[in-house]
Amino acid sequence: MGSNSASVAAPISDLTPSAQFSRPTYLMCSPQWYDVDYVINPWMAGNVHRPSRDVAFNQWKALYQHLQAIADVRLLHPRQGSPDMVFVGHAALVNHGVAAISSFAHAQRQTEEMHLRRWLQEHGFLLWETPRETAFEGEGDALFDADGQRLWAAHGVRTCRYSHQHVADAWHTRVTSLHLIDPRFYHLDTCFAPLAGGYLLYYPEAFDAASLELIESAYPAETRIAVSEAEATQFACNVINIGRKILMNPAGEPLRCLLTGHGFEVIETPLGEFLKSGASAKSLALRLSDVSVTHGVGVV
Ligand code: ARG
Repeated sequence: MGSNSASVAAPISDLTPSAQFSRPTYLMCSPQWYDVDYVINPWMAGNVHRPSRDVAFNQWKALYQHLQAIADVRLLHPRQGSPDMVFVGHAALVNHGVAAISSFAHAQRQTEEMHLRRWLQEHGFLLWETPRETAFEGEGDALFDADGQRLWAAHGVRTCRYSHQHVADAWHTRVTSLHLIDPRFYHLDTCFAPLAGGYLLYYPEAFDAASLELIESAYPAETRIAVSEAEATQFACNVINIGRKILMNPAGEPLRCLLTGHGFEVIETPLGEFLKSGASAKSLALRLSDVSVTHGVGVV
């Protein structure tokens, strides 16, 4: 052991895992065992065993390369028998080096939890567990605002409302619960994306009236970018946003122009094989760095 390694105590801030990430950092998991093996959302119906693993791999790799150009990307080893493990964004919610681990609603995805738990533990994250009875699906259903001050959490399909406060307590943060009402938009990240600069990309029809009021009172009209049903069904809200850059499945010229008009640079990469399982860009990467590092306008 080096002469000064054990004797000098490091400040606690240097010991927290978030200190490792001064750049936007994500975790991805390759689609080596990806398939639609079962039906747990409306998109999977009719698509059982229909994705091509070769095409999926090429699409995943293109996303990985785009993401790598603007962020650090770590990899989680895929496991046979967990075909949805590629959607690593649902297995936890991470901020400030603390990871709230998902408690998946469906048995088919529960096998994923232990693999991510182990990876996060080995990489120094503090783990915050959610009781099995209160389902919670990570970044699928819980998203921080761009400044990291407020957590938005959804219920109605997968995540149980009772998990919201418990998850928010991991960061002593304020949480606002939203009710999802359209089974096609079964996770918050299919219809709601806080963006850098205080913008919100969302599909209003996915929420009940009370939830829409909450959203509209938090985001002034000029910051809300509403997508159409046709765009929403191309998973236009399931985006990765780093500073001014947005990575997404192609959602058409009008939305591209709208986003560009708000100062974003849109990078489109086809993810059709993953749409068959009900997911797109955002679901394929779990944010590990702090929200403020990821959304900070000056990052890219
Ligand atoms: N097949 C996965 C599931 O149903 C896909 C999840 C996609 N989620 C999303 N937010 N896009 O759990």
